[in-house]
Amino acid sequence: MNAWWLNGRLVDPGTPGITLDDHGLTTGDGCFETMKVVGGTPFALSRHLRRLRRSCDGLGIATPADAVLREACDAVLAAAGEGAGRLRITVTAGPAPLGSGRGDVAPTVTVLAGPPADWEPTTAVAVCPWVRNERSAVAGLKTTSYAENVVALAWARERGCTEALFANTRGELCEGTGTNVFVVTGGRIATPPLDAGCLAGITRELLLEVVDVDERPIALDELATADEVFLTSSTRDVHPVHEIDGRALDAPGPCTRLALDAWRALEDRSLDP
Ligand SMILES: Cc1ncc(COP(=O)(O)O)c(C=O)c1O
Repeated sequence: MNAWWLNGRLVDPGTPGITLDDHGLTTGDGCFETMKVVGGTPFALSRHLRRLRRSCDGLGIATPADAVLREACDAVLAAAGEGAGRLRITVTAGPAPLGSGRGDVAPTVTVLAGPPADWEPTTAVAVCPWVRNERSAVAGLKTTSYAENVVALAWARERGCTEALFANTRGELCEGTGTNVFVVTGGRIATPPLDAGCLAGITRELLLEVVDVDERPIALDELATADEVFLTSSTRDVHPVHEIDGRALDAPGPCTRLALDAWRALEDRSLDP
């Protein structure tokens, strides 16, 4: 169920691999992708590889060739066997001096397979007191600098929730720590536009291709009156929200059900949509 690949070869899970001066470790200088695995195949791998390239370009890290990453994914999944449900690719800037400046070296590349994420059919969320900076140098990039998400998620869990939602600096809804967010008001599904500072989620992107969704700025206040809310991510798919900031919601409500049905139909059609 677990298998690891490091810089070109499979290694035993638990094997120490990267050097202690890796810039990913010392400064969070890296990018990653997480995919779910369906029947031994990574879901939407082509889109994830495209986004990894965008993130690496944004940070200025050389992206490994797609062929190398595809081979690594195949090797890891073959070694992991049937229980694998999740795949993670990480690319860091590699060994570097101890400050923020990079070394002049090849990146460190890892691919790890592990068990699937396990979610209840519906979930509770809360808006956290911190904001996403939609003007950040790394806005929209999927970097390994996730400590902000770690703190916000711990805050949410202390409140019985599985996700914390962020506003951006303009007071608009942005995203969750590891999810995009959709809101239903007056029978219309809406989600924040990418310039709100959210990640261009692959699940979000695919859903927008098959469901009628308004991409528009959503004032945070709208959450207090929204009829339905759902989250999307590679491990949650379309995840109905039954409680937001302590307020009960219909979950899945009619529009969320529509999104769920469209998502399942899309998944049935292709593993690399
Ligand atoms: C900050 C953030 N937003 C949104 C998402 C959802 O993206 P995806 O659907 O590609 O998993 C993720 C997932 O990793 C994330 O980390």
